[in-house]
Amino acid sequence: MAGHHPPVTDFHTDFDHTDPAWAADPYPIWADIRSSECPVAHSERYGGVWLPTSHADVSAVAYDTEHFTAQSVVVSEGRPMIPAPQGIAPPISSDPPFHHEARRLLLPAFSPKAVAALEPFTRAYCHELLDSVEGKDVVDGAVDYSQHIPVRVIAKMLGFPPEDADTFRMFVHNALEGVDLPIEKRMENFALLDAYLREQVEDHVANPRDDLTTFLLNSTMDGEPLNPEHVGGTIALLLIAGIDTTWSAIGASLWHLARTPSDRKRLAAEPELMTTAVEEFLRAYAPVTMARLVKEDFEFNGCPMKANEWVLLPFPAANRDPAMFENPDEVVIDREENRHAAFGLGIHRCAGSNLARMEMTVALEVWMERYGAGFTLADPESVTWSGGQVRGPRTLPIAIG
Ligand code: HEM
Repeated sequence: MAGHHPPVTDFHTDFDHTDPAWAADPYPIWADIRSSECPVAHSERYGGVWLPTSHADVSAVAYDTEHFTAQSVVVSEGRPMIPAPQGIAPPISSDPPFHHEARRLLLPAFSPKAVAALEPFTRAYCHELLDSVEGKDVVDGAVDYSQHIPVRVIAKMLGFPPEDADTFRMFVHNALEGVDLPIEKRMENFALLDAYLREQVEDHVANPRDDLTTFLLNSTMDGEPLNPEHVGGTIALLLIAGIDTTWSAIGASLWHLARTPSDRKRLAAEPELMTTAVEEFLRAYAPVTMARLVKEDFEFNGCPMKANEWVLLPFPAANRDPAMFENPDEVVIDREENRHAAFGLGIHRCAGSNLARMEMTVALEVWMERYGAGFTLADPESVTWSGGQVRGPRTLPIAIG
């Protein structure tokens, strides 16, 4: 996405995570900052943003709920309207102690058992997607395949119409890639999402069923039903957190395999490597960078942070820190020691990680079963990546055969 802001000329002092150079290849930018005298960069954009780049600094901010609030995790010109502790999309936007309960009530829906029950459906859907492109010489790994999988799964979990998939993707795009739009336009976009969710919730109130939306409507916190903003905010979070992230992770894994013959052949010959391969793709191509706001002026590792400034949490940069991982820029599909931060660190660690791993594994297994090692990037130059805080391939033409 072309930014609406002036292009960045110095990432040390004026970075912008929506800049096309960052979207195209952020790793050298982070490595350069990490090894400089100032490994926590600062930019005046968005009313002030800090950028820690080492694993230790990203981790320190993620664990520090005293100095940082999660009430908005997506950097924009504006500041959140719904204050902590609930925030706009609980639990991701919630601070302790509210956060704990808001998260706890979601966990059963994403337990290993609940996720295992969704696997056959996911596998059948992946086959259906590849059946529909049977006979084509070039399949777009993002457009024809990855982007559909998490949408279909989360729509099923929430009990939303699967035919609204394009609408969901528009919401995701607006929320995550529309961050440098003028605030009025951003509000308009949120109003669309809000109206859609209201309609779905009303329908579930009138016709309760066995799904996550009805479960949330029937849930209680401290003996009281969740307030409507809580229900709507959590659904919005699941829709947004579940789609773009997993689509990006599947797409980046396919991109790697399509451009790396040795790994492609090895995984085709040794399918039992899938578990470590998925973890390594998550580490090396972690799609998600989150953010916090500084609560009050304070000094972090010599950085004079001001109240209401943002701090980006580039988990993908933490995953490439040589202090944490041996040869971090190398993709080793049977890497043994791999305590990566792709799902975040601290109290907000991804609640959907079981689901995400299942979707990635199934998507890659079905793809490898179908094509073996017989696929390659059709045109490396035409691959495009999403900009902003969730990064993954959006156009990924892959030649089959
Ligand atoms: C590969 C795919 C995914 C990645 C890389 C990912 C990554 C993350 C990260 C980094 C966080 C931490 C946010 C923070 O610290 O502010 C997070 C939180 C969260 N994710 Fe995921 N996620 C993925 C898929 C999913 C899916 C499929 C769902 C559910 C449908 C989901 C639901 C959540 C929720 C509810 C939270 C908030 C947890 C809390 O605040 O306690 N994620 N995710």
